[in-house]
Amino acid sequence: MAGIYLHIPFCKRKCAYCDFYSIANTKFIENFVETICKEIEIQKFYLDKENIQTIYFGGGTPSMLNERQIEKILNTINKHFTVEKNNEITLEANPDDLSEKYLKSIKKLGVNRLSIGIQSFNEDDLLLMKRKHSVNQANKAVKESQEQGFNNISVDLIYGLPDLTIKKWEENIDKALSLNIQHISAYHLTIEPNTLFQKMYKNEKLNLPIEEESLDQFKMLIDKTAKNGFLHYEISNFAIDGSISLHNANYWMGVKYLGLGPSAHSYNLTSRQWNISNLHEYLDTISKGKIPFETEILTKNEKYNDFVITSLRTMWGLNTEKLKRKMGEKYEKYFLEKAKKFLDKNLLIQSENNIILTDKGMFISDNIMQDFFYDKID
Ligand SMILES: C[S@@+](CC[C@H](N)C(=O)[O-])C[C@H]1O[C@@H](n2cnc3c(N)ncnc32)[C@H](O)[C@@H]1O
Ligand code: SF4
Repeated sequence: MAGIYLHIPFCKRKCAYCDFYSIANTKFIENFVETICKEIEIQKFYLDKENIQTIYFGGGTPSMLNERQIEKILNTINKHFTVEKNNEITLEANPDDLSEKYLKSIKKLGVNRLSIGIQSFNEDDLLLMKRKHSVNQANKAVKESQEQGFNNISVDLIYGLPDLTIKKWEENIDKALSLNIQHISAYHLTIEPNTLFQKMYKNEKLNLPIEEESLDQFKMLIDKTAKNGFLHYEISNFAIDGSISLHNANYWMGVKYLGLGPSAHSYNLTSRQWNISNLHEYLDTISKGKIPFETEILTKNEKYNDFVITSLRTMWGLNTEKLKRKMGEKYEKYFLEKAKKFLDKNLLIQSENNIILTDKGMFISDNIMQDFFYDKID
């Protein structure tokens, strides 16, 4: 079983916080769709003929593709791969793209999961973030999706935003929970390089919450989602039972995936590779029958590091027996030795052979994970 990720590198305009690879020029979309279909064909053996269980249209803004373009891509995947009947096909969508007609068509094409980028249910936040949509459009997009029969809907939210008070954040969570959706992805704002927010941050024009305030926002999110029956199954992801994102869960389980489109990453158990983050070079190279990618064969230490990052971020944590089986006793010992101080500080807990991040640990997970990394050559 394997997954396919498609990176759709177009946005109507850049949001103030985002550094995902995309351009705001729609005139290349048609050529891009032709090209990604070519890439699908060239890469048809990458997954060793494993069946495809999940397909994920990410971006950028996949909902800028029209129905015919999505159909063409799905048909091409079906032509070159065997897609499981019981599949998960996700489309990341921006609220202002989700018309009744569009939703009807993509549902017919087999899209069965929507990840809607709402970010905030507060008009001022949306303006500050330079989002294209309004609160009204966000509400309508969810309602319309439900009316068209989508029953696996995720909403993206961002906390730790400038001027985000705990009250405003509570209203955001309550609003999301009132919508009868199955999944919430809530990310803490990161100030990314080359974004408008970074520029404003440097000029001291962003009033960011202090760490304790952000931690309170995270705790409130955990608390409220739990009370409403959501499983906190990964640092930033919450799902009602049965609606965990299979595509993302497979990443964390170390399942193979093929990433298509500029900047997309692929993994086949022994190596990682990533396409160039430049649409024009991408289009040009594939037109010559080649893929513009870089690759690295994973060393044993890198495989261990990957195992730590992917396991620890989930609610199941890292199973030390599995670590020993996969990597050997030396790595298990190293991990357990490092874990001690975090267990003492209640940033990790142990349940039988599983080492799991506590809520507090999740909030500073990047620092904790870095401490586990094995980068000595021996
Ligand atoms: C790359 S976007 C693609 C989806 C779609 N274009 C949208 O805007 O909703 C995926 C999600 O990443 C999150 N994201 C992107 N940049 C972020 C940042 N700097 N800090 C926190 N979350 C971020 C947003 O919640 C966004 O919905
Ligand atoms: S958040 Fe989404 S719409 Fe905004 S720039 Fe990033 S990918 Fe584009």
